[in-house]
Amino acid sequence: MKIRRKSDIQSSEITPEPIFRGRRKWIAAAAAVGAASAIPIARLFDDAPAVHAAARLGPLKTSRFSTSEPRTTYEAVTMYNNFYEFGFEKDEPARNAHTLRTRPWTITIDGEVKKQRTFDIDQLLKLAPLEERVYRLRCVEAWSMVVPWIGYPLSALIKQTEPTGNAKFVQFTTLHDPQQMPGQRVPLLDWPYVEGLRLDEAMHPLTLLTLGLYGEVLPNQNGAPVRVVVPWKYGFKSPKSIVRIRLTEKQPKTTWNQTAPTEYGFYSNVNPTLDHPWSQAKERRIGEFLKRQTLMFNGYADEVGALYAGMNLKKFF
Ligand code: MTE
Repeated sequence: MKIRRKSDIQSSEITPEPIFRGRRKWIAAAAAVGAASAIPIARLFDDAPAVHAAARLGPLKTSRFSTSEPRTTYEAVTMYNNFYEFGFEKDEPARNAHTLRTRPWTITIDGEVKKQRTFDIDQLLKLAPLEERVYRLRCVEAWSMVVPWIGYPLSALIKQTEPTGNAKFVQFTTLHDPQQMPGQRVPLLDWPYVEGLRLDEAMHPLTLLTLGLYGEVLPNQNGAPVRVVVPWKYGFKSPKSIVRIRLTEKQPKTTWNQTAPTEYGFYSNVNPTLDHPWSQAKERRIGEFLKRQTLMFNGYADEVGALYAGMNLKKFF
């Protein structure tokens, strides 16, 4: 086996306590809405050809920020997901997210801006040149992937709104529609999913407004039609299927920080020296057998270290 078998991992080992307790409720709800049957986990790692049904995106600029490390297979990237709006198990988003309607879709940017704007998905696809960005994604569950995302810097979008001098933070909000997102029928998180960044983190060139992966529009389970990817932070700081971006003066509420504040800080920069509360020193790259050392800021320290100069990263975890 290339990853620990499910039976080797206690859910309580990797799942915050409130979620662990809510899991049973989800299982009952999923049964009630008739979620499809399981994809054998072995399917994720075999060499079967990928089913590419999605629209292709292009032309794509290459990026100096891309890693040359081997890419995780399309199958694993699209069938091993965290998207609690569609279930708890890694294979559930791929099976359940077909109920998400990704058109029409708009994102509204409001709050501390001079020009409040709403963009539909076709405008977003044309707002700036699309780039392929091959990034490492590191999850607090101590696995990682390498994903060829498609998008452009989030800063290109935020600049359109002319932030006011009071804007210090950015909050992202995922769609809230329990009809389309069966997980939202269970109050295990305080829906909708919200995440946040400091404004300088959001404006950093690595922070990607993401519209696709592997040359195609985003599959629903990966956060279609538009999400954010912040590669030096743990994966949960990369919110999926977003409809609103709000600029704020005060640090905004974020879902995981509210759910388990001692485990999930606002910053959540990848940091191998800080437990979470389980060790974050090593990670398993999906598809590899041996664990590898986790790097500070997920290997992006040269690019983002200056954002945190002089900050106590133990306190601001
Ligand atoms: N966004 C929403 N709305 N809901 C979620 O449950 N899970 C997060 C993040 N964004 C999540 C989310 C977590 S824990 C991870 S690791 C990444 O999405 C996974 O992204 P991927 O499935 O595209 O690899």
